[in-house]
Amino acid sequence: MTKQFETPAGSIDVLCGVDLDAASGDSVAIVGASGSGKSTLLSLLAGLDLPTSGSIEVAGRDLARMSEGELARYRSAQLGIVFQQFHLMSGLTALENVSLPLDLEGVADAEERAAVVLEQVGLRDRATHRPGVLSGGECQRVAIARALIVEPAVLLADEPSGSLDPRTGAKVEELLFELTERRGTSLVLVTHSDSLAGRCDRCLQLVDGRLR
Ligand SMILES: Nc1ncnc2c1ncn2[C@@H]1O[C@H](COP(=O)(O)OP(=O)(O)OP(=O)(O)O)[C@@H](O)[C@H]1O
Ligand SMILES: [Mg+2]
Repeated sequence: MTKQFETPAGSIDVLCGVDLDAASGDSVAIVGASGSGKSTLLSLLAGLDLPTSGSIEVAGRDLARMSEGELARYRSAQLGIVFQQFHLMSGLTALENVSLPLDLEGVADAEERAAVVLEQVGLRDRATHRPGVLSGGECQRVAIARALIVEPAVLLADEPSGSLDPRTGAKVEELLFELTERRGTSLVLVTHSDSLAGRCDRCLQLVDGRLR
């Protein structure tokens, strides 16, 4: 699979021959220098962008062949994403942010289920607070709770402990593995942390557009 970006200054080859195979329940760490294409790879896996050539199959289905509706359905039902910049809704409370994926699906007990997951990430007493008054680590945990609430088959996490102090980072990592292992969730995470990468079943390094 390859990915190029066309820019006014010419085209940039970000990924040039990435071959990644993950079985369900696997955890895979993607490491690599800044700008090596890690976030690009995650957005392709999420179906948020399409590869320039090659294909991405999830559970035997080629993402490029799905309609917009099918892709949206795939993302909302099977995928949890923790973005590098969290992308929380600033106007919603922590609880509302976490329940949002279920609200969009019209799930009746969305708020009750969100409260349970919020409790699991240690933020029960922050439920009514908006992201603006939460710390970076707290926002990160809200983002993780939101990604996990649909009990996704696949969790994509972009530097899930990146902006945290070592102790909070370790707690967040613990939580991520505990929740995904318990549910048999496949985990693909981008990290600069050797200890986090070491906990995954596999660690792949992105160098010059290729995984090794
Ligand atoms: N939409 C885009 N248009 C043009 N270039 C892009 C686009 N998105 C990413 N790039 C370029 O692709 C390269 C890879 O970016 P990407 O965000 O995937 O890196 P990364 O490995 O996640 O880096 P970091 O560790 O800093 O988050 C960079 O050189 C970036 O400038
Ligand atoms: Mg990135």
